[in-house]
Amino acid sequence: MSAGKSRSLAGRLRVPGDKSISHRSLLIGALTVGRTQIEGLLEGEDVIATAKAVRAMGASVAREGEGRWRVNGLGVGTLLAPREPLDFGNAGTGSRLAMGVVAGHPFEAVFDGDASLRKRPMRRILDPLMQMGAETVEQAEGGRLPLRLRGAREVIPIVYETPVPSAQVKSAVLLCGLSADGETTVIEKEATRDHTERMLAHFGAKISSEKQGEHGRKITLRGRPELVPQKIVVPSDISSAAFPLVAALIVPGSDIVLENVLLNPLRAGLIETLREMGANIEEVGRREDAGEIIADLRVRHSELKGVDVPASRAPSMIDEYIVLAVAASFAKGDTRMRGLSELRVKESDRLAATADGLRANGVDCETFGDDLLVGGRGRAAGGGLVKTHMDHRLAMSFLVMGLGSDKPVKVDDGAFIATSFPGFVENMRALGAEIAA
Ligand code: S3P
Repeated sequence: MSAGKSRSLAGRLRVPGDKSISHRSLLIGALTVGRTQIEGLLEGEDVIATAKAVRAMGASVAREGEGRWRVNGLGVGTLLAPREPLDFGNAGTGSRLAMGVVAGHPFEAVFDGDASLRKRPMRRILDPLMQMGAETVEQAEGGRLPLRLRGAREVIPIVYETPVPSAQVKSAVLLCGLSADGETTVIEKEATRDHTERMLAHFGAKISSEKQGEHGRKITLRGRPELVPQKIVVPSDISSAAFPLVAALIVPGSDIVLENVLLNPLRAGLIETLREMGANIEEVGRREDAGEIIADLRVRHSELKGVDVPASRAPSMIDEYIVLAVAASFAKGDTRMRGLSELRVKESDRLAATADGLRANGVDCETFGDDLLVGGRGRAAGGGLVKTHMDHRLAMSFLVMGLGSDKPVKVDDGAFIATSFPGFVENMRALGAEIAA
């Protein structure tokens, strides 16, 4: 696939539903007795894998229209043992959150995924779940997939301090803690996305969250709640909106509106950073829905300048660094992004792959330990072929780069875009982007 210099982008776009919220609505719906109605579910491959896993554990899951899904759950602790291995494909979030759910049930399940997911670390999830009484019966080397997890007969409520800033680890512990007779506490030094906490509260769980230290949080959940079925309206994913947003910033003359974007403060680090760089991003109609903050974003082409992005901001924009590095290439001056160690364990080693992709397109960049430095010159030469390593966000970020580069940018594989942003190419073309299959 390749993307070439485009005329100014214009129009309105509603990107698909938020991936994090979509996974959680299916899993928490399955733990609720009765009918949960979901609107705006992301129908990407990652979320469909979670829908299948939930179905394999006895919940009834049905698609009733575009983005409209219904889940009839069985309740906390009463799901059924899946007969077949649960295949999560490329999806880290789906697999790790589902491990938390399985750990809270007295049965075994086999977890598997594609070559990318099989490389990703699972010990960070398994360690706390074992403390809660679960067991890994079989696993590939280094605690990786495929693995067989045996849930706890009696879940032990624990106090867990997460060693890495990860909403997936936090969420797995909380989802397992739903089955415990007592209180489960998670302490995080850096606050991470809080969709699990918000959604559990929305479904009637007793859960509290208080500040801990400068950037941290302490979350306490009372186990064995009676979850009450809800209607969930999934807002547009800011991590997907990030692509047309940066595209509009770097393509001269652009003026677009991104509708209904999730602006949870623990997800909006990219907007804050781009504004510091001089981006013209206007929020229209800021509102609240099902405990989440949402707005339309009007984005206009902007002259960007390099900035220093502090490590403390990483959890609120962890999935957006690749596309930020693209924006930084079109800025004037250096952008230093600090504290990116977690990027190494995403769908690919995003730190190395981003640097490779930038260099292939004539952009100066350097990694220093966990930091990435991009020397912006207000333009990118392009003309490179980018290796995407089964990583959707690498593919989309570098296609965005091509829209503003002197020469087209090619990516070696666009197939994984379907994991998180089905319709990406069509949606971008509708705004005026030159993308060839
Ligand atoms: C997610 C958490 C983040 C993020 C991922 C989605 C979630 O991962 O990168 O895309 O929905 O909880 P980590 O928990 O590994 O930081």
